[in-house]
Amino acid sequence: MLACAQPSDEVLAFLNTRRSCPAPALSEPGPDRIELSKLLRLATRVPDHRRLAPWRFIIFDGAAQQQVGTVFAKRFLELHPQASADDLTRERRRFSCAPVVVAVISSPDPAHKTPVWEQELSAGALCYNLLLVANAAGWAGNWLSQWIAFDTKIASDLGLIANERVAGFIHLGTGQEPIRERPRPEIAPLISYWR
Ligand SMILES: Cc1cc2nc3c(=O)[nH]c(=O)nc-3n(C[C@H](O)[C@H](O)[C@H](O)COP(=O)(O)O)c2cc1C
Repeated sequence: MLACAQPSDEVLAFLNTRRSCPAPALSEPGPDRIELSKLLRLATRVPDHRRLAPWRFIIFDGAAQQQVGTVFAKRFLELHPQASADDLTRERRRFSCAPVVVAVISSPDPAHKTPVWEQELSAGALCYNLLLVANAAGWAGNWLSQWIAFDTKIASDLGLIANERVAGFIHLGTGQEPIRERPRPEIAPLISYWR
């Protein structure tokens, strides 16, 4: 049996101070495959209406990071025939900054009575949970999408099937330096009490 609440000042302080790390600042080492599988198992402990597990992962590490970079650059050139050499280098390196990139794929079942929106929200929760789990395990990370998350040709090159979408590319590695806090919204204007 699990407790429904587990008060922890440590967890609250962690949530109050955690930050994403800019992808270019992510460097080696990153989690190895064994550690990554532990992080992913924990990350899947998210709310999931009717337990559909409507998500999956594609991991980019080692040579796959350069290989997928070639796919990005090729597609970029198709879309932008005037692309410069610098543009193509940037595209080729898109997944090579961080030691590992995890694509969280939203994989909803549109025929299921659980609305697709709820299934997609679970994928978003999974992205954030992966960041939290990684940070708590000592890894820095960043949730990015960029144009590659929205291009149908790239989706097919990554092996996505109908109804699947990239929920996020989670870049993981080691952060070199502390990061400045970023502005956070005032929450008062966001709150109303329904009458
Ligand atoms: C769905 C989603 C997609 C994002 N895509 C990008 C992106 O493509 N490029 C970017 O610079 N930041 C992107 N961000 C923002 C980064 O994750 C950013 O580092 C983060 O919001 C910083 O906030 P934090 O420190 O509170 O985590 C995205 C955020 C979300 C939620």
